Amino acid sequence: MKTKETLILEADQSGFAAAGRIIRRGGLVVFPTETVYGLGANALDAGACAGIFAAKGRPQDNPLIVHTADVFALARLAGDVPPRAAALIQAFMPGPLTLILPKKPDIPDTVTAGLPTVGLRVPSDPAAAAFLRHAEVPVAAPSANLSGRPSPTSFAMARAAMEGRVDAIIRAEDSRVGLESTIVRVTESALEILRPGGISEEQLRLAAGGCEIRGSFSENSGGPPPAPGMKYAHYKPKAETLLFRTAAQRRACEVYCAGAGKKLGVILLADSLNAERAAADTKNVITRQMLSAQEYARRLYAEFFVFDRLGCDVILAQYPPVEGIGRAIANRLLKAADGRFAEGL
Ligand code: TXA
Ligand code: MG
Repeated sequence: MKTKETLILEADQSGFAAAGRIIRRGGLVVFPTETVYGLGANALDAGACAGIFAAKGRPQDNPLIVHTADVFALARLAGDVPPRAAALIQAFMPGPLTLILPKKPDIPDTVTAGLPTVGLRVPSDPAAAAFLRHAEVPVAAPSANLSGRPSPTSFAMARAAMEGRVDAIIRAEDSRVGLESTIVRVTESALEILRPGGISEEQLRLAAGGCEIRGSFSENSGGPPPAPGMKYAHYKPKAETLLFRTAAQRRACEVYCAGAGKKLGVILLADSLNAERAAADTKNVITRQMLSAQEYARRLYAEFFVFDRLGCDVILAQYPPVEGIGRAIANRLLKAADGRFAEGL
């Protein structure tokens, strides 16, 4: 469904002003944030928000996050802000946190998929804030990828996914965090992490003042997914994706790809496991080494994008230590790989 003429706007005053006008007249604008690029529409305009679902091929029952330029605008959209939520707003907003709160009636059902709650976020990226100020209305936005694909963390990725489907794309810097926001629901007795992301469980724990923290990352928790979006396929590159956490698994995948003539992209952490055999590129094996978990988070989706562009048949990614931002990386990797480690190939 590529039918629209897409304007490329610069991240400057006139670009933000044009983007704001497009939003106010019901159009779609792709904009940068510190987590990933978003696909935005006026959150108070049900028709405009319906356009988001069409552009992404997104299931209707998967609600959108609403973005505002500051916490004052955010508070006006929430029916109630419990004290525990106020503490999180104080500690982490603006920033890569989304809070699920009771919604005000003027937020249309299209945005929340009929739920009585709404996801609210104030991005910290200066270009995101400038865009949202110029929009003058709250902006509903999912990540700016086709449904099921990795989220864009650069202008080039956002353009490849959305040109022809939206009215404008803002050309800005690469996303600094690189993975989506942490989604937290505040209940009477606890904080529930619905999606691990840019704010770690450890950071939340420090700010939560002893309040119980539930949910978070689990490798295969049963039961219905708490955030509707979590039941869908997600973050998948075109290449078959496999994970490894031992040198033997890495070796097994390399042998399998060499034997089958498959081109392989490898993402490694610079750690003791890989100290002996680091970046040894050959014609059919391309290796990327991440120096820290932060760098891994920031570059993960971009590496998926590049490996797909280079025609890799298989992507092999190292499963990181599940702590700090590593929880979010592990969560996205498990979805990208359908939970498959490189074994028995
Ligand atoms: O970092 C981010 O959060 C990015 C940037 C653009 O802000 N946005 C993003 O949106 O990742 P999206 O649509 O790709 O993911 C939003 C997730 C979905 O899994 C959705 O089901 C969940 O948030 N969600 C939204 N509203 C919700 C609600 N009221 N209750 C529970 N989950 C909700
Ligand atoms: Mg998404």
